[in-house]
Amino acid sequence: MKVILLESVDSTNAHAKILLASEQLPFWILAERQSKGRGRYQRKWISNSGNLFCSGVYPIVHDLTHASNLSFVAAIAVAETLAEFVSPELIKIKWPNDILLNGKKVSGILLETFSHKNNNFVIIGIGINLLHHPKDSLYPATNLLEHANNNSLDQSPSIILDVLIDKFEALNETYTTKGFAPIRERWHRLCYNIPGEVDVNLLTEKFSGMATGIDLNGSLLVRLSNGTMRNISAGDVFFGSDNV
Ligand code: BTN
Repeated sequence: MKVILLESVDSTNAHAKILLASEQLPFWILAERQSKGRGRYQRKWISNSGNLFCSGVYPIVHDLTHASNLSFVAAIAVAETLAEFVSPELIKIKWPNDILLNGKKVSGILLETFSHKNNNFVIIGIGINLLHHPKDSLYPATNLLEHANNNSLDQSPSIILDVLIDKFEALNETYTTKGFAPIRERWHRLCYNIPGEVDVNLLTEKFSGMATGIDLNGSLLVRLSNGTMRNISAGDVFFGSDNV
């Protein structure tokens, strides 16, 4: 797998779009730092050196569901990578694809789709807090070093990215050959607080209910107190035990 190493970029996701025209797919970019790291919903992703900032670029071969399914593939790959460095039971995935370490956010994924010359691409941007984390984030954050076995994390971002790419490729192969069902099953084994109470915060409405799982499109299934089922395809969700 080709990995392009950069010292400083605005955002690996933004830079991936520029390289799309000249690079063979798939490829990954790893930057030491980002000056304009982006999070979901136009939030900033603080990107000082020491943490991992990368983007993988893959063709979208089917429809856009393929792209959103890859965000679940990526979340499992990140979770399984981090589980190599800390006690695995501390790692959970909070719907749809935030990775929590001991209940706090350690990694986020920003998936962007893009068209170029009539072909569709997905850019999978992944940030992992290795050595530091923001202190005033929307969701309480942590970093890998705080919990690493023996409190030592001597793996560089590029070594961690190699592990991550291997896991992503293996899971992507499963997804390509067997579909979303085995990915969904693996995601359910790693997910945070499902079944559990959840507050859903959409752009247009807020409500609470019981999260029961994800459906075959990756939408979060929430049962309201009157028994109605809602499926949530995008939005911020806060689970009952979240400290926010
Ligand atoms: C989130 O809001 O949780 C998603 C954060 C994604 C951050 C990563 S860092 C590498 C890539 N480049 C960016 O600008 N953002 C993503």
